Amino acid sequence: MPFALPPPAPRAVTRRALLAAAVALPALASGRGPVRLRFSHVVAPDTPKGRMALHFQALVHERAGDRLRVEVHPDSQLWGDDDEIEALRLGAVEMLAPSLSKFGMAGVPEFEVFDLPYLFSEAAQVRRVTEGPVGQALLRRLERQQMLGLGFLDNGLKHMSAQRPLRRVADFAGLRVRVQASRVIEAQWRALGAQPVVLPFAETRRALASGVVNATENPLSNFLTQGLASVQPQLTLTGHGYLGYAVVTNPRFWASLPMADQRLLTDALRAALAQGNRWAAELDRDALLALQRQTGVAVHQPSEAERDGLRRALRGVSQMVERGPQGQWLKDVRAALLAK
Ligand code: LMR
Repeated sequence: MPFALPPPAPRAVTRRALLAAAVALPALASGRGPVRLRFSHVVAPDTPKGRMALHFQALVHERAGDRLRVEVHPDSQLWGDDDEIEALRLGAVEMLAPSLSKFGMAGVPEFEVFDLPYLFSEAAQVRRVTEGPVGQALLRRLERQQMLGLGFLDNGLKHMSAQRPLRRVADFAGLRVRVQASRVIEAQWRALGAQPVVLPFAETRRALASGVVNATENPLSNFLTQGLASVQPQLTLTGHGYLGYAVVTNPRFWASLPMADQRLLTDALRAALAQGNRWAAELDRDALLALQRQTGVAVHQPSEAERDGLRRALRGVSQMVERGPQGQWLKDVRAALLAK
C-alpha cells in the first residue's frame, strides 16, 4: 500500500513563547555580567540527555566559573514539545536537544530519515552517519530554520508497548498509539494497522493512564524513568527504530558570544556528548535489567520469524521515503552505514 507524506504543518507561535521571548531578549550576551544559557529538555534527569546536560553544565562551570552560567531545566518544566523550538527561535531559551524525529515538523524533514523502521540495528551504528559528512550536512540544514546545530546524542533503540505483547501484525489492530510528531513514525504505525496520535512527551503517561491512547514506543531509559510500566505492562523488545537527539542553539545568541566562549562551549559540549553516548549505552542496559525485575511488567523478546513479519509489514514505509523528497538523504545514510 503506498504511503504519502503530508507537507509539514506550519507551527503556530504560542502566546506563552511570545511573551517569554519579549522578556528574554536581553539574554543575548551583552559583554556585561554573566551569560545565562538556559538548557531546556523534556526528559528526566537520569536519562542520557538529562545526564549529558548536567555534565555539560558542570564542565562549563569548571572552565568558565560564573562567567557562563548553564541552567538545566528537565522534564518540560520550562518548555515542552509544543513550544520549545519556537521558544529557541524567539530567544526565550538558549539550548535544546529535541529528538531527531521532532525536526521534521519544525521544517527540516531530512531528519525524518532517522525514523525509518529497521534502518539501524544498534544505536552505536548511527554514529557512522552522525560523525561523518552526512551528519554535518544535516546539522547545516538546521540553519534554514533559525537553529544552529552543535552535535548529536544517542538515546537508544525504541521498543513497543501496550496492554498486550506486540509480536505479530495482527496484535496491532485497533491500537491508538502515542507518537512523536514525525510523518515517518505515523506512517510506520499506520502500516501496522494502528492509529498514531501525536502527543507531547510530557502528556504521554497521563494519556496512557486515562486510555486516550493505549500503546507507545520508547527507548528503555525513557520507558523506565517515565514510570510507563504501570500503564503499559507488556513491553515487546522490537528494537524497530532509533531515538537520538541534536543539540541546537539560537544562532543570534551564539553570534553574540565572544569567539573564546564559543570555543569553550563547543569543547565542553563535545566532551559532554561523548560521555552522554557512553551513558546512553549503559542506561539502556540498566533499564532493561530494572524492567525485567519489575513486578507487573512482562518483557517479551520477539522471535526472528516475528521480527521478519513486522519488517515485511513496514517495507512500504521505506519505499515511501526512498521515492519521496528525502530519498537522496536516505541513500546517503545507507552509504555511510556501509562505508568501511
Ligand atoms: C519522545 O517524545 O518520546 C522523545 O523525543 C522524548 C525525548 O526527548 O527523549
